[in-house]
Amino acid sequence: MKTKKLQDPENVLRGKGGEIHQTAGPEVPILTTQQGTPVSDDQNSFKVGPRGPATLEDFHLREKMFHFDHERIPERVVHARGFGAHGYFENYETLADVTSADLFQRPGEKTPAFVRFSTVAGNKGSADLARDVRGFAVKLYTQQGNWDIVGNNIPVFFIQDAIKFPDLVHAVKQEPDRDFPQAATAHDNFWDFISLMPESMHMIMWVMSDRAIPRSFRFMEGFGVHTYRLLNADGKSTFVKFHWKPKFGLQSVIWNEAVKINGADPDFHRRDLWNAIQTGDYPEWELGLQLFDDKFADEFEFDVLDATKLITEEQVPTRRVGRLVLDRCVDNFFAETEQVAFCTNNIIQGVDFSNDPLLQGRKFSYLDTQVKRLGGPNFTHIPVNAPKCPFHNFQQDGHMAMVNPKGRVNYEPNSWGGAAGGPRESHETGFQSFLAKEKGRKVRERSESFADHYSQARQFYISQTKVEQGHIAEALIFELSKVEKPAIRLRLVSHLPHIDPKLADRIAKGLGLRDKLEVPPPAKQPLPDLKPSKALSIALNGPKSFAGRKVGILVTDGTDRPLFDGLKSAIEAEGATLEVVAPTVGGVLASDGSIIEAQQKIGGGPSVLYDAVAVMPSADGVQALLKNAAAKDFVSDAFAHLKFIAYVGAAQPLFEKAGIAADLDEGCLILNAPKDAQTFVIACRKLRRWDREHIAMA
Ligand code: HEM
Repeated sequence: MKTKKLQDPENVLRGKGGEIHQTAGPEVPILTTQQGTPVSDDQNSFKVGPRGPATLEDFHLREKMFHFDHERIPERVVHARGFGAHGYFENYETLADVTSADLFQRPGEKTPAFVRFSTVAGNKGSADLARDVRGFAVKLYTQQGNWDIVGNNIPVFFIQDAIKFPDLVHAVKQEPDRDFPQAATAHDNFWDFISLMPESMHMIMWVMSDRAIPRSFRFMEGFGVHTYRLLNADGKSTFVKFHWKPKFGLQSVIWNEAVKINGADPDFHRRDLWNAIQTGDYPEWELGLQLFDDKFADEFEFDVLDATKLITEEQVPTRRVGRLVLDRCVDNFFAETEQVAFCTNNIIQGVDFSNDPLLQGRKFSYLDTQVKRLGGPNFTHIPVNAPKCPFHNFQQDGHMAMVNPKGRVNYEPNSWGGAAGGPRESHETGFQSFLAKEKGRKVRERSESFADHYSQARQFYISQTKVEQGHIAEALIFELSKVEKPAIRLRLVSHLPHIDPKLADRIAKGLGLRDKLEVPPPAKQPLPDLKPSKALSIALNGPKSFAGRKVGILVTDGTDRPLFDGLKSAIEAEGATLEVVAPTVGGVLASDGSIIEAQQKIGGGPSVLYDAVAVMPSADGVQALLKNAAAKDFVSDAFAHLKFIAYVGAAQPLFEKAGIAADLDEGCLILNAPKDAQTFVIACRKLRRWDREHIAMA
């Protein structure tokens, strides 16, 4: 069949039609069917003559097509787009005083973990920088079974009762007649629903803030949201809220940047996590526990069972009890990230639920959806979902059962005795629920203690810096400007005076509202005196160093080699990384004739992909950049996005062309000598030059 052996280190033959056949060798395994039958030709189907009809007996074609046709499984109904990685949780100290959970007993003990980050509303193929809540789901493979903390990057939620979840998700996703917009809240159905759900106002403040456009999964917090319980060996209960605090501090992008990143690199977040782990710069978070007792819960101004409320860290500080490190990318995205199944029901001895009605409802949701998504009840056998501790029970059969009981007995109690009788209960180590005393009539009603809808929305707003407040206002104006029906805009803005009258005015002006606001009477009068909380701002919780961040360096032929090397060393010494952006991806010839390798071509590496930039053309090289629109955007966007910019004198004509030469400020640092690089990197620790905003965004 094959006629010619080609010149190639691997065994490559060419078929009669010119097609390439790569063949097995001593170190190259033989391709087989799923049944193990070796395949002789994977390029051609079996036909009656080379130009004739296909034969029915071509079992290889049939099997290959059949399998391909079934490659897709339903995407998650929410949180469809996500990215996961393996790692471990390391416990700092024994927490035996508050919980008997095994993983918290021994200082220094490591528990394997799998984490999946996600957006909520978009489809699986949507872009990473959508304005959205991020899922932060952690599976801990403890010696007592799997414990999933299925959280988000925002500590509160839109709704108080699970019965509203399908409505919330229908409202936020694509509108059903047209199937757009996807991965966006800026449409009528979402704001219509929200304007009729005052309980969502606190969450809305968060979603309109820069929390909803994080720079990286690595630079965002995670929250369990609900109040849970911890139980110690004596059965004593302590309430708890879970927090994940990123080691590298908080950082978000700004909206104009998010829009452009979505075009330049829709996989920006997944690529960032992948690269960080592959290069050994392991992302890390500390687990913080807010612990409180019944007395605090009774005296707290809100209901601790209401998921639209948080407890500020000034009221209950977070006790840092361990760290979560992600140190291994998945081998196969589908097998691990797509098939992982987190569930709030996956809980271990020493932890328990509270009566939060949102949490209670979640317990009815995850298993159902996963049976549909993963095709049967045995998805717990998939390696990423299976416990790493021993597990035994009499559950059997079903689609694709991988873990099957041996022997004759598959029920209990039984009288077979000993090992032949199979697994038995354990009163010592078995899960014990908190025996809460419950009383009351059966009712379908909301607790009055949930009725304050605005106080914490206001507290969040006043906890933001002026710049952050401006971003919330701009986001609201942007989103509501996309709403076609004026009555919805008006109804939404009418809630805002309860949060902040000046904010309401600003939004009304920004939307050009002519109708008078009809402010709805609050179900409960908001509290006037909640204090701002520093922990709620991103700007006040930034990093202490520039580690983990990335600088984009624009170079041309003739770039000054010593200056470039000085900058590279300073960036790397800080624990940051750099990418070289050049006229071609083949790199440039530096001032000393050496090659500077490039990772991006201008245009392929716009400045939105970097935390700071350096503009280092030679005097000749800059002339070509002046004719390159992408080079102009590189500097004008970096300036508009308030980034720190290092530059050489030769960059001046490009700054003039980009219209920023007259506005250069202290965030723009000239590199005259290699030592100036250090000053630049130290400046970059602030991440952005916020006081440029009034010029850049005017
Ligand atoms: C009643 C309220 C809720 C319901 C009914 C619900 C339901 C769901 C469903 C059906 C999925 C898809 C699961 C899958 O296919 O594997 C999901 C995923 C998820 N939910 Fe919820 N959810 C609710 C509230 C929340 C809240 C309050 C949070 C955060 C605290 C949250 C965090 C997540 C996360 C992080 C995922 C993605 C898990 C992953 O990465 O696979 N959900 N939820």
